[in-house]
Amino acid sequence: MTTVDLEIIDADNWREALEVRVADEQVPFVADCQPIALVILAKCFVRPDGRRWEPLLVRSDRGEAVGVLALAHGPDECELRHVAIDVERQRRGYGTEAVRAVVERARRSASDCTQLVVTAHPDNRAAHHAYRSAGFDWDGEERAGEPVWRCVVDRTSPDA
Ligand SMILES: CC(C)(COP(=O)(O)OP(=O)(O)OC[C@H]1O[C@@H](n2cnc3c(N)ncnc32)[C@H](O)[C@@H]1OP(=O)(O)O)[C@@H](O)C(=O)NCCC(=O)NCCS
Repeated sequence: MTTVDLEIIDADNWREALEVRVADEQVPFVADCQPIALVILAKCFVRPDGRRWEPLLVRSDRGEAVGVLALAHGPDECELRHVAIDVERQRRGYGTEAVRAVVERARRSASDCTQLVVTAHPDNRAAHHAYRSAGFDWDGEERAGEPVWRCVVDRTSPDA
């Protein structure tokens, strides 16, 4: 079974994060340019939407840096941004597991986040599959022409 851990991108792993690349044709789905981690780290600094951004590295159980993503913390909802799995490691379940790990991280956190949100281009089938598999739902809501996937953060489960 595929398992992953999430690590804050910091002084120890930022070079690994910069190695994560998507295919050229996938770039418009996820950022204006690559490396995606560079965009994430820039946004953590400039905070374009006024939110607190958290940069995360996705590490496989084999110790490889397989992806990156960001969490933008709003007052009660938290948005997944720039979700990217390295092109050489896609279609192995890492994307789905990374999103599941974000849900678990939110569930165990002390923040007020009650809901996780993510948007994806309508043609991005892999992303829609991954969000659905990780427990997100789409009720027809769109933002800038993109479906908005939502997942309630349930802190009532026994091991929360
Ligand atoms: C979207 C992305 C994160 C998914 O990660 P991944 O590790 O490849 O996905 P998984 O292996 O977990 O597969 C997730 C599902 O998508 C399906 N899938 C994966 N690649 C696919 C593709 N190219 N076309 C159609 N379906 C695909 C898988 O079969 C799986 O379906 P299932 O849940 O029904 O079994 C990854 O493809 C990626 O980084 N893409 C480029 C950047 C991007 O688009 N990011 C999302 C921005 S919203």
